[in-house]
Amino acid sequence: MPALILKIDKEDLEESIDTAANIIKNGGTVVFPTETVYGLGANAYNADACLKIFKAKNRPADNPLIVTVSNFDMVKDVAYIDDDRLKIMKKVWPGPLTLLLKKKKIIPDIVTSGMDTVCVRFPDNKIALSLIEKSGVPIAAPSANLATKPSIVDSKDATEDLMDRVDAIIDAGRVKYGVESTILDATKKPYELLRPGAFSVEDLKNLFGEIKINEAAEGYKESKIALTPGMKYRHYAPSKELFLIEDENEFRKFISSEESKSFTALCSSENAKYAKCDKIILGSDIYEIAHNLFYAFRKLDKDKNKYGVIQSFPENSIGFGVMNRIRKASYLIVRKNEDAIKTISSYKLGQIKKD
Ligand code: TXA
Ligand code: MG
Repeated sequence: MPALILKIDKEDLEESIDTAANIIKNGGTVVFPTETVYGLGANAYNADACLKIFKAKNRPADNPLIVTVSNFDMVKDVAYIDDDRLKIMKKVWPGPLTLLLKKKKIIPDIVTSGMDTVCVRFPDNKIALSLIEKSGVPIAAPSANLATKPSIVDSKDATEDLMDRVDAIIDAGRVKYGVESTILDATKKPYELLRPGAFSVEDLKNLFGEIKINEAAEGYKESKIALTPGMKYRHYAPSKELFLIEDENEFRKFISSEESKSFTALCSSENAKYAKCDKIILGSDIYEIAHNLFYAFRKLDKDKNKYGVIQSFPENSIGFGVMNRIRKASYLIVRKNEDAIKTISSYKLGQIKKD
């Protein structure tokens, strides 16, 4: 059966959320907005319902789900927290910071892929919070995209990808940030940044003092593999091959050269004027760029050019999360000390070997 599309105009809002909450209570799946990206949710206490999330997304069973809550009592139901951590949570929640905590038994193993920790998220989005409250249970919800694909930031894209895979989709338009929450491991001291995202590292440091940055946070881990193209799988990625040119001058040179003919450039408003190839403008402010990033990846997949090329951005505030997503989505990264035209043409000539 195709998914129910639930409208959220003033007159539909309450009824839509009631319907969605009933679906959650009855073990079904609902796509709903958060302030970061859309989530694909089910009752976090119901293992069979959570299995449906993995199936709908083609998600490997060893990739655990975030548990989304709507109040502090729910946090205590799912995870062990002390007064120290509770104090912090009260400062940052609701908001786009997800905390890794020790899990309680009530969360079935399928949600955490058998681990003894759970990622807890308290989103700053009225629809998400109202859905969880009305469901009466925490909602396990990864990002709503199909595995490896760009995250969903607009309900239209949810309809396109998930219509036959879920029970309902809440049609709430575009989300606020466009990049997922920041994930912080709060099980050990100092706390460790696992994934940069919409909550800035600068704010984390102001709140917690010392923060360890996990080596995967920059996003090179998968992309290092991508330096040898064609290997392994990427995350958040468009279907087309996307090339990241980290040096801004090299990027400008490339997009104004003949070499860029079969490319679409994803760039800032400022760099757009250098493009002789087709372009998708991401914006000028880093929050605007974050907001448009996944949307642009999807647009790239629909245009006529064979390849995409993207620039890098300063890695402060949400920019750290933006660069993590771009690196993970990239097929090949041209590093700062490389000649972009030469590297990319060698790749196209087959001179950079596939493993
Ligand atoms: O903004 C967000 O966080 C969005 C919205 C929908 O809430 N959700 C989201 O979920 O990005 P997802 O599943 O796409 O990313 C969650 C990440 C995954 O990389 C997963 O491996 C990691 O969190 N994760 C979840 N539980 C974990 C755990 N117990 N230990 C380590 N990593 C965990
Ligand atoms: Mg995801």
